[in-house]
Amino acid sequence: MQLEVTNRCNLDCDMCPRLVLLKVPEVDMQRETLETILDRFEETPAHSMTLTGWGEPLMHHDFFGFVDRIHERFPETDIGFTTNGHLLTKRIVRQILERPIGRINVSLEELPWDEAPAHLPPARASEEGHEVNLMKGDKNHVARDGHPTPPKVVEHLRHLLSERNAKAARGESAPEIRLQVVLFPNSAETTARLVDFGAELGFQAVNLVRLDVRGRPDLTRPTYQEERDLIALARERAEAGGIPLGSVNDHGHILRVASHDDEFCMRLDSYVYIDVEGNVAPCCLLRGHRLGNLAEESLDGIWNSADFKRFYGPDPHPACDGCDAFMHRYTDQSDLTERKHASSIGEPS
Ligand SMILES: C[S@@+](CC[C@H](N)C(=O)[O-])C[C@H]1O[C@@H](n2cnc3c(N)ncnc32)[C@H](O)[C@@H]1O
Ligand code: SF4
Repeated sequence: MQLEVTNRCNLDCDMCPRLVLLKVPEVDMQRETLETILDRFEETPAHSMTLTGWGEPLMHHDFFGFVDRIHERFPETDIGFTTNGHLLTKRIVRQILERPIGRINVSLEELPWDEAPAHLPPARASEEGHEVNLMKGDKNHVARDGHPTPPKVVEHLRHLLSERNAKAARGESAPEIRLQVVLFPNSAETTARLVDFGAELGFQAVNLVRLDVRGRPDLTRPTYQEERDLIALARERAEAGGIPLGSVNDHGHILRVASHDDEFCMRLDSYVYIDVEGNVAPCCLLRGHRLGNLAEESLDGIWNSADFKRFYGPDPHPACDGCDAFMHRYTDQSDLTERKHASSIGEPS
């Protein structure tokens, strides 16, 4: 299950739909809400809990208190989170590594390198009418709408990986740390550099993610063919660097079978999203589609409700119309109106 511990963020990435489309409340989950949620998992503990909503988990006022409490109540549950890496100071890294955290995804779309190839579009900072913000893709000019990556973040990651890998080398338990990269148009060189960087620092894997532009229809994503080429290039580099690479949008045999050849969304397979107020939704991208609140109903009751079951077919749920975030196939989004996007993603039906 995914737990929206906070929607507050220390960044404002242009690609992120959190405020423009999802219009999330910028608040932290309270301790009482966590306790109510955990009570509902008493009989059937979750296999894994990912402490990440539409914000930066390390911004939560009591992130490590939440981790400790979850582990105290459910020692067998695998705990993970996704971070933009900006707050990974030495103190925070120490706090992470002394806890039983099993998985960390670090999101990165660019690296601070100096010589941008001439054919690439200009940095947003240098465009007319745009405020100069040196944090936003100023260096490589490609993933300017993704996460900004100043040199400080690279240093944080070097430290995190070196401490984590030293711990693993001593035979102690250590989290699996993945580099998570959203794919942008014209990003072959950046993608290759990021995979090399992942291998060099000793990340355990690289995970490629399809750009979702429904929150920002003015952004363009790679074409399907460009995406295939980027994944193939990344695979080549990963193989050379000896680092595993995956993408939920590149279905191999097992995912093809599990997804009924792209008929069934893998996100709906034994997953729930729980927001800051304890509302349950079938997907992080449908957080406004509330199927019940754990303060009022049991998880079983919500899970077995007709509204929830409708997401399992036989036909795709109308709320999923136009979404290909976890699919192999590619949806042409140009024929979907903005109103349709808003009703399918942001609002409860
Ligand atoms: C919403 S963030 C929350 C965690 C943390 N703040 C971070 O950025 O890693 C979770 C993931 O969503 C991804 N994401 C944000 N906007 C996206 C978009 N438009 N398309 C695809 N993935 C996106 C981020 O790259 C990140 O890996
Ligand atoms: S992608 Fe993550 S870091 Fe960027 S604005 Fe969204 S929640 Fe914040």
